[in-house]
Amino acid sequence: MTTDFKSLTVAIDGPSGAGKSTVAKLAAELAGLVYVDTGALYRTVGLYMLEHGVSANDPEAVAARLPEVEIELSYEDGKQVVSLCGEPVGDRIRTEEASLCASAVSQIPAVREFLLEMQKDLARKGGVIMDGRDIGTVIMPDADVKIFYTATARTRAERRFREQREKGMDVTFEEVLAAIEERDRQDMERELAPLKPAEDSIVFYNDPFSIEACSAWLLGVLTRAAWEKARK
Ligand code: DC
Repeated sequence: MTTDFKSLTVAIDGPSGAGKSTVAKLAAELAGLVYVDTGALYRTVGLYMLEHGVSANDPEAVAARLPEVEIELSYEDGKQVVSLCGEPVGDRIRTEEASLCASAVSQIPAVREFLLEMQKDLARKGGVIMDGRDIGTVIMPDADVKIFYTATARTRAERRFREQREKGMDVTFEEVLAAIEERDRQDMERELAPLKPAEDSIVFYNDPFSIEACSAWLLGVLTRAAWEKARK
């Protein structure tokens, strides 16, 4: 009998820059699960507001425009494609401006409510690895596997600093570290769906490990979960 990962539900939460999506994508591919990047949904709402001149910091204005935001998720060669009003968003959601808007709109109750059912629907189908901030606490409280995937702010800043320097950006390490600490504070201190490990999640600090080591570790965790599920 081979290991059957197909019915597993896996929630991966953690702060920005911890490498959740990289490891979740790799593990999803190895285990034949669908990877759902929920941050992309918040980014898409943020992008809509940005492109339509709506301030992401104005909760009432954002809430009033939500009925116009048509988001569709599809998969091409196993890769998640998010479309906004019929057009794939591509890398438009990855700019610094779009990231700031995503962070702001994600703190608005109407936005979280707006994206809730779509995420719960995906969770109900099973065979998924979802990453975000509130997956184990709000979206899939009954997930088979819950992981809080993190690294210290210093390690995350070192990684981000290296990336930005390689792209030729003129930043100092202190600036990058301060930005990461500020975003952590915002994500953890917000009232609504704050970033925190679910009580039954495995908290994993990946500081000393390579991506390969982390995905091998995750595959081990999934194998154990699949085995336990099959015995029930
Ligand atoms: O994971 P990311 O950086 O792509 O997420 C973009 C923003 O959306 C980030 O500011 C946190 C927010 N987010 C959230 O509040 N809840 C989620 N489940 C996923 C992302």
